[in-house]
Amino acid sequence: MYPKVEINLRGIIENAKTMKEICKKNGKNYCLITKVLADNKEIVKALVDSGIDCIGESRIQNLMAYKDIKAEKWLIRIPMFCEVEEVIKYSDVSLNSELSVIKALNEEAKKQNKIHKIILMYELGDLREGCSKEELETIIEEILKLSNIKIYGLGANLSCYGATIPTIENMNELISVAEDLEKRFNFKFELISGGNSSSYKMLVNGELPERINNLRLGESIFLGNIPCFEEPILEFKRDNFILKTQIIELKEKPSIPRGKHYVDSFGNIPTFVDRGIRKRAIIGLGKQDINLGGLIPQDAEILKLGGSSDHIILDVTDSKNQYKVGDEITFKLNYSGVLNLMTSKYVERKIV
Ligand SMILES: Cc1ncc(COP(=O)(O)O)c(C=O)c1O
Repeated sequence: MYPKVEINLRGIIENAKTMKEICKKNGKNYCLITKVLADNKEIVKALVDSGIDCIGESRIQNLMAYKDIKAEKWLIRIPMFCEVEEVIKYSDVSLNSELSVIKALNEEAKKQNKIHKIILMYELGDLREGCSKEELETIIEEILKLSNIKIYGLGANLSCYGATIPTIENMNELISVAEDLEKRFNFKFELISGGNSSSYKMLVNGELPERINNLRLGESIFLGNIPCFEEPILEFKRDNFILKTQIIELKEKPSIPRGKHYVDSFGNIPTFVDRGIRKRAIIGLGKQDINLGGLIPQDAEILKLGGSSDHIILDVTDSKNQYKVGDEITFKLNYSGVLNLMTSKYVERKIV
Protein backbone atom coordinates (compact mmCIF):
# COMPACT_ATOMS: atom_id res chain seq x y z
CA MET A 1 0.00 0.00 0.00
CA TYR A 2 0.99 3.61 -0.59
CA PRO A 3 2.18 5.80 1.00
CA LYS A 4 4.95 3.77 2.59
CA VAL A 5 8.28 4.43 4.23
CA GLU A 6 10.98 1.92 3.38
CA ILE A 7 13.49 1.60 6.18
CA ASN A 8 17.06 0.45 5.59
CA LEU A 9 17.62 -1.38 8.87
CA ARG A 10 21.12 -2.54 7.91
CA GLY A 11 22.16 1.07 7.24
CA ILE A 12 20.86 2.19 10.63
CA ILE A 13 22.61 -0.67 12.43
CA GLU A 14 25.88 0.08 10.62
CA ASN A 15 25.66 3.75 11.66
CA ALA A 16 24.88 2.80 15.27
CA LYS A 17 27.92 0.50 15.37
CA THR A 18 30.23 3.04 13.74
CA MET A 19 29.05 5.65 16.24
CA LYS A 20 29.78 3.24 19.08
CA GLU A 21 33.35 2.87 17.84
CA ILE A 22 33.79 6.64 17.46
CA CYS A 23 32.45 7.16 20.99
CA LYS A 24 34.64 4.41 22.43
CA LYS A 25 37.76 5.86 20.78
CA ASN A 26 36.92 9.18 22.42
CA GLY A 27 36.09 7.74 25.85
CA LYS A 28 32.32 8.35 25.63
CA ASN A 29 29.17 6.29 25.63
CA TYR A 30 25.83 7.15 24.09
CA CYS A 31 22.15 6.59 24.56
CA LEU A 32 20.43 5.89 21.25
CA ILE A 33 17.38 8.13 20.92
CA THR A 34 14.87 5.95 19.10
CA LYS A 35 11.88 8.32 19.11
CA VAL A 36 11.93 8.64 15.32
CA LEU A 37 10.90 4.97 15.08
CA ALA A 38 7.60 5.65 16.88
CA ASP A 39 7.07 2.30 18.61
CA ASN A 40 8.72 -0.04 16.13
CA LYS A 41 9.80 -2.95 18.31
CA GLU A 42 11.38 -4.92 15.48
CA ILE A 43 13.92 -2.21 14.66
CA VAL A 44 14.69 -1.38 18.29
CA LYS A 45 15.17 -5.08 19.07
CA ALA A 46 17.53 -5.47 16.10
CA LEU A 47 19.54 -2.45 17.28
CA VAL A 48 19.77 -3.82 20.82
CA ASP A 49 20.74 -7.26 19.47
CA SER A 50 23.52 -5.55 17.49
CA GLY A 51 25.06 -4.19 20.71
CA ILE A 52 23.17 -1.01 21.64
CA ASP A 53 22.72 -1.12 25.41
CA CYS A 54 20.87 2.14 26.12
CA ILE A 55 17.79 3.56 24.40
CA GLY A 56 16.03 6.85 25.01
CA GLU A 57 12.50 7.90 24.19
CA SER A 58 10.54 11.08 24.64
CA ARG A 59 7.14 9.34 24.86
CA ILE A 60 6.54 6.82 27.62
CA GLN A 61 4.16 4.87 25.36
CA ASN A 62 7.13 3.85 23.22
CA LEU A 63 9.06 2.57 26.24
CA MET A 64 5.95 0.60 27.21
CA ALA A 65 6.10 -1.05 23.78
CA TYR A 66 9.75 -1.95 24.40
CA LYS A 67 9.16 -3.47 27.85
CA ASP A 68 10.56 -6.87 26.86
CA ILE A 69 13.65 -5.48 25.16
CA LYS A 70 16.72 -5.73 27.39
CA ALA A 71 18.50 -2.36 27.47
CA GLU A 72 18.79 0.56 29.85
CA LYS A 73 15.78 2.76 29.09
CA TRP A 74 15.73 6.52 29.42
CA LEU A 75 12.78 8.87 29.28
CA ILE A 76 14.33 11.94 27.69
CA ARG A 77 11.39 14.30 27.92
CA ILE A 78 11.04 15.54 31.50
CA PRO A 79 8.05 13.61 32.90
CA MET A 80 4.47 14.77 33.37
CA PHE A 81 2.82 14.22 36.78
CA CYS A 82 0.17 12.10 35.08
CA GLU A 83 2.70 9.54 33.82
CA VAL A 84 4.77 9.07 36.97
CA GLU A 85 3.53 5.51 37.52
CA GLU A 86 4.51 4.47 33.98
CA VAL A 87 7.84 6.30 34.18
CA ILE A 88 8.85 4.22 37.19
CA LYS A 89 7.50 1.04 35.66
CA TYR A 90 8.95 1.32 32.15
CA SER A 91 12.07 3.49 32.40
CA ASP A 92 15.27 3.07 34.38
CA VAL A 93 16.39 6.67 34.03
CA SER A 94 14.57 9.95 33.42
CA LEU A 95 15.74 13.47 32.68
CA ASN A 96 14.37 15.92 35.24
CA SER A 97 14.27 19.60 36.14
CA GLU A 98 11.36 19.94 38.62
CA LEU A 99 11.65 18.98 42.30
CA SER A 100 7.88 18.43 42.64
CA VAL A 101 7.98 15.80 39.88
CA ILE A 102 11.10 14.16 41.31
CA LYS A 103 9.32 13.88 44.68
CA ALA A 104 6.34 12.27 42.93
CA LEU A 105 8.72 9.85 41.19
CA ASN A 106 10.20 9.00 44.59
CA GLU A 107 6.78 8.22 46.08
CA GLU A 108 5.91 6.01 43.12
CA ALA A 109 9.32 4.30 43.19
CA LYS A 110 8.68 3.45 46.86
CA LYS A 111 5.34 1.89 45.91
CA GLN A 112 6.98 -0.15 43.16
CA ASN A 113 9.97 -0.96 45.35
CA LYS A 114 12.44 0.43 42.83
CA ILE A 115 15.35 2.85 42.78
CA HIS A 116 14.84 5.30 39.92
CA LYS A 117 17.86 7.07 38.44
CA ILE A 118 17.64 10.69 37.33
CA ILE A 119 19.73 12.97 35.17
CA LEU A 120 19.31 16.54 36.37
CA MET A 121 19.10 18.99 33.51
CA TYR A 122 21.12 22.20 33.53
CA GLU A 123 19.97 25.09 31.33
CA LEU A 124 23.01 25.74 29.14
CA GLY A 125 21.65 28.45 26.87
CA ASP A 126 19.18 26.77 24.50
CA LEU A 127 16.31 27.79 26.81
CA ARG A 128 14.33 24.58 26.83
CA GLU A 129 14.35 22.30 29.90
CA GLY A 130 16.87 22.79 32.67
CA CYS A 131 17.65 24.50 36.00
CA SER A 132 20.07 27.26 36.90
CA LYS A 133 23.06 26.34 39.06
CA GLU A 134 21.43 27.99 42.08
CA GLU A 135 18.25 25.95 41.60
CA LEU A 136 20.29 22.76 41.26
CA GLU A 137 21.95 23.55 44.59
CA THR A 138 18.56 23.91 46.24
CA ILE A 139 16.95 20.85 44.71
CA ILE A 140 19.90 18.49 45.12
CA GLU A 141 19.79 19.17 48.87
CA GLU A 142 16.18 17.93 48.83
CA ILE A 143 16.77 15.05 46.40
CA LEU A 144 19.49 13.62 48.62
CA LYS A 145 16.83 13.12 51.30
CA LEU A 146 14.71 10.95 48.96
CA SER A 147 15.01 7.22 49.56
CA ASN A 148 14.21 5.87 46.09
CA ILE A 149 15.82 8.41 43.75
CA LYS A 150 19.47 8.14 42.71
CA ILE A 151 21.20 11.09 41.07
CA TYR A 152 22.85 9.45 38.06
CA GLY A 153 24.08 12.43 36.11
CA LEU A 154 23.96 16.03 35.05
CA GLY A 155 22.79 16.80 31.53
CA ALA A 156 22.15 19.63 29.13
CA ASN A 157 20.32 19.87 25.86
CA LEU A 158 21.35 22.18 23.04
CA SER A 159 20.43 22.94 19.42
CA CYS A 160 16.70 22.32 19.75
CA TYR A 161 14.66 25.36 20.78
CA GLY A 162 17.31 28.05 20.68
CA ALA A 163 19.59 26.45 18.04
CA THR A 164 22.53 27.02 20.42
CA ILE A 165 25.57 25.11 19.20
CA PRO A 166 27.87 23.12 21.49
CA THR A 167 31.23 24.80 22.08
CA ILE A 168 34.28 24.25 24.28
CA GLU A 169 32.99 27.16 26.39
CA ASN A 170 29.52 25.78 27.09
CA MET A 171 30.86 22.24 27.62
CA ASN A 172 33.34 23.63 30.17
CA GLU A 173 30.49 25.55 31.82
CA LEU A 174 28.54 22.29 32.23
CA ILE A 175 31.58 20.58 33.74
CA SER A 176 32.29 23.46 36.07
CA VAL A 177 28.68 23.41 37.35
CA ALA A 178 28.92 19.62 37.81
CA GLU A 179 32.21 19.85 39.70
CA ASP A 180 31.02 22.67 41.97
CA LEU A 181 27.94 20.61 42.85
CA GLU A 182 30.07 17.52 43.42
CA LYS A 183 32.34 19.44 45.77
CA ARG A 184 29.45 21.01 47.65
CA PHE A 185 27.51 17.76 48.13
CA ASN A 186 30.45 15.37 48.24
CA PHE A 187 29.30 12.98 45.53
CA LYS A 188 30.20 12.28 41.91
CA PHE A 189 27.95 12.39 38.87
CA GLU A 190 28.42 9.07 37.08
CA LEU A 191 27.38 10.68 33.81
CA ILE A 192 27.72 14.12 32.35
CA SER A 193 25.43 13.98 29.33
CA GLY A 194 26.60 16.84 27.18
CA GLY A 195 24.14 16.94 24.33
CA ASN A 196 22.75 15.40 21.19
CA SER A 197 23.76 14.86 17.56
CA SER A 198 24.82 18.48 17.19
CA SER A 199 27.85 17.49 19.33
CA TYR A 200 29.06 15.07 16.64
CA LYS A 201 31.72 17.44 15.24
CA MET A 202 33.25 18.02 18.66
CA LEU A 203 33.07 14.29 19.35
CA VAL A 204 34.81 13.18 16.18
CA ASN A 205 37.43 15.95 16.42
CA GLY A 206 38.27 14.86 19.97
CA GLU A 207 37.15 18.26 21.28
CA LEU A 208 34.63 17.10 23.87
CA PRO A 209 36.26 17.45 27.29
CA GLU A 210 36.99 14.20 29.12
CA ARG A 211 34.32 14.67 31.80
CA ILE A 212 31.55 14.84 29.20
CA ASN A 213 31.19 11.06 29.02
CA ASN A 214 27.74 10.67 27.46
CA LEU A 215 25.74 11.93 24.48
CA ARG A 216 22.13 11.24 23.54
CA LEU A 217 22.11 10.58 19.79
CA GLY A 218 19.25 10.18 17.31
CA GLU A 219 19.42 12.08 14.01
CA SER A 220 23.13 11.47 13.37
CA ILE A 221 22.58 7.72 13.56
CA PHE A 222 19.25 7.44 11.76
CA LEU A 223 19.95 9.97 9.00
CA GLY A 224 23.72 10.53 9.02
CA ASN A 225 23.08 14.24 9.52
CA ILE A 226 24.48 16.74 12.01
CA PRO A 227 21.51 18.84 13.10
CA CYS A 228 21.93 22.55 13.73
CA PHE A 229 24.95 22.59 11.36
CA GLU A 230 22.89 20.69 8.73
CA GLU A 231 25.97 18.84 7.53
CA PRO A 232 26.08 15.24 6.30
CA ILE A 233 28.27 12.68 8.03
CA LEU A 234 29.96 11.34 4.92
CA GLU A 235 31.00 7.98 6.35
CA PHE A 236 27.43 7.22 7.56
CA LYS A 237 24.54 5.75 5.55
CA ARG A 238 22.17 8.63 4.88
CA ASP A 239 19.05 7.51 3.00
CA ASN A 240 17.79 5.05 5.56
CA PHE A 241 14.19 6.21 5.15
CA ILE A 242 12.63 6.54 1.67
CA LEU A 243 9.01 7.55 1.17
CA LYS A 244 7.08 6.02 -1.72
CA THR A 245 3.83 7.65 -2.82
CA GLN A 246 1.35 7.14 -5.64
CA ILE A 247 0.02 9.69 -8.14
CA ILE A 248 -3.76 10.04 -7.85
CA GLU A 249 -4.29 12.85 -10.39
CA LEU A 250 -2.14 14.17 -13.23
CA LYS A 251 -3.39 17.13 -15.26
CA GLU A 252 -2.27 20.33 -16.91
CA LYS A 253 -3.55 23.37 -14.99
CA PRO A 254 -2.69 27.06 -14.65
CA SER A 255 -0.23 28.09 -11.92
CA ILE A 256 -2.54 30.67 -10.33
CA PRO A 257 -5.90 29.70 -8.77
CA ARG A 258 -8.95 31.32 -10.32
CA GLY A 259 -11.33 33.59 -8.42
CA LYS A 260 -10.54 35.65 -5.34
CA HIS A 261 -8.21 33.91 -2.85
CA TYR A 262 -7.55 34.46 0.80
CA VAL A 263 -6.74 31.96 3.62
CA ASP A 264 -5.97 28.29 2.78
CA SER A 265 -7.16 25.20 4.67
CA PHE A 266 -4.22 25.47 7.09
CA GLY A 267 -4.84 29.12 7.97
CA ASN A 268 -2.07 30.56 5.79
CA ILE A 269 -2.29 33.11 3.00
CA PRO A 270 -0.63 31.35 0.06
CA THR A 271 1.46 32.99 -2.65
CA PHE A 272 1.76 31.69 -6.22
CA VAL A 273 4.34 32.07 -8.99
CA ASP A 274 2.90 32.33 -12.49
CA ARG A 275 4.72 29.75 -14.60
CA GLY A 276 1.83 29.38 -17.03
CA ILE A 277 0.13 26.05 -17.68
CA ARG A 278 1.98 23.25 -15.86
CA LYS A 279 1.71 19.49 -15.52
CA ARG A 280 0.65 18.90 -11.93
CA ALA A 281 0.64 15.60 -10.06
CA ILE A 282 -1.34 15.06 -6.89
CA ILE A 283 -0.04 12.31 -4.60
CA GLY A 284 -2.04 10.43 -1.97
CA LEU A 285 -0.42 12.00 1.09
CA GLY A 286 -1.16 15.25 2.87
CA LYS A 287 -0.11 17.82 5.40
CA GLN A 288 -1.89 15.66 7.98
CA ASP A 289 0.94 13.17 7.48
CA ILE A 290 3.92 15.41 6.87
CA ASN A 291 5.20 18.95 6.90
CA LEU A 292 6.09 19.66 3.24
CA GLY A 293 9.55 20.89 4.22
CA GLY A 294 10.40 17.32 5.27
CA LEU A 295 10.04 15.96 1.72
CA ILE A 296 12.92 15.91 -0.76
CA PRO A 297 11.83 14.51 -4.18
CA GLN A 298 14.34 11.97 -5.54
CA ASP A 299 13.48 13.21 -9.02
CA ALA A 300 15.28 16.54 -8.80
CA GLU A 301 13.13 18.10 -11.56
CA ILE A 302 9.99 17.88 -9.41
CA LEU A 303 8.82 21.06 -7.69
CA LYS A 304 6.73 20.95 -4.50
CA LEU A 305 3.84 23.36 -4.99
CA GLY A 306 1.87 22.88 -1.78
CA GLY A 307 -0.96 20.84 -0.42
CA SER A 308 -3.81 20.39 1.97
CA SER A 309 -4.57 17.78 4.66
CA ASP A 310 -4.82 14.85 2.26
CA HIS A 311 -3.21 16.05 -0.98
CA ILE A 312 0.27 17.16 -1.96
CA ILE A 313 0.59 18.90 -5.31
CA LEU A 314 3.78 18.57 -7.34
CA ASP A 315 4.85 20.27 -10.57
CA VAL A 316 6.28 17.49 -12.77
CA THR A 317 6.47 19.50 -16.02
CA ASP A 318 10.27 19.58 -16.15
CA SER A 319 10.78 15.93 -15.22
CA LYS A 320 12.34 13.57 -17.77
CA ASN A 321 9.93 10.89 -16.56
CA GLN A 322 6.61 10.52 -18.36
CA TYR A 323 4.51 10.08 -15.23
CA LYS A 324 0.97 8.72 -15.35
CA VAL A 325 -1.73 8.19 -12.74
CA GLY A 326 -0.77 5.25 -10.50
CA ASP A 327 2.98 5.83 -10.87
CA GLU A 328 5.23 6.01 -7.87
CA ILE A 329 7.00 9.18 -6.74
CA THR A 330 9.72 8.75 -4.14
CA PHE A 331 11.23 11.13 -1.61
CA LYS A 332 14.19 11.36 0.72
CA LEU A 333 13.26 12.73 4.12
CA ASN A 334 14.68 15.04 6.70
CA TYR A 335 14.42 14.19 10.42
CA SER A 336 11.13 15.98 11.00
CA GLY A 337 9.74 14.30 7.88
CA VAL A 338 10.64 10.86 9.23
CA LEU A 339 9.16 11.74 12.62
CA ASN A 340 5.89 12.87 11.02
CA LEU A 341 5.54 9.86 8.74
CA MET A 342 6.50 7.24 11.30
CA THR A 343 3.75 8.49 13.60
CA SER A 344 1.02 8.69 10.93
CA LYS A 345 -1.15 5.60 11.05
CA TYR A 346 -1.96 6.15 7.38
CA VAL A 347 1.61 5.47 6.29
CA GLU A 348 2.92 1.92 5.97
CA ARG A 349 6.39 1.19 7.33
CA LYS A 350 8.41 -1.48 5.61
CA ILE A 351 11.82 -2.74 6.65
CA VAL A 352 13.94 -3.56 3.60
C1 LIG B 1 16.66 15.66 25.55
C2 LIG B 1 17.06 15.18 24.20
N1 LIG B 1 18.22 14.54 24.06
C3 LIG B 1 18.61 14.06 22.87
C4 LIG B 1 17.83 14.19 21.74
C5 LIG B 1 18.32 13.60 20.45
O1 LIG B 1 18.64 14.60 19.53
P1 LIG B 1 19.31 14.27 18.13
O2 LIG B 1 18.30 13.52 17.34
O3 LIG B 1 19.63 15.60 17.56
O4 LIG B 1 20.52 13.46 18.40
C6 LIG B 1 16.61 14.87 21.84
C7 LIG B 1 15.72 15.05 20.69
O5 LIG B 1 15.20 14.15 20.15
C8 LIG B 1 16.20 15.36 23.10
O6 LIG B 1 15.04 15.99 23.26
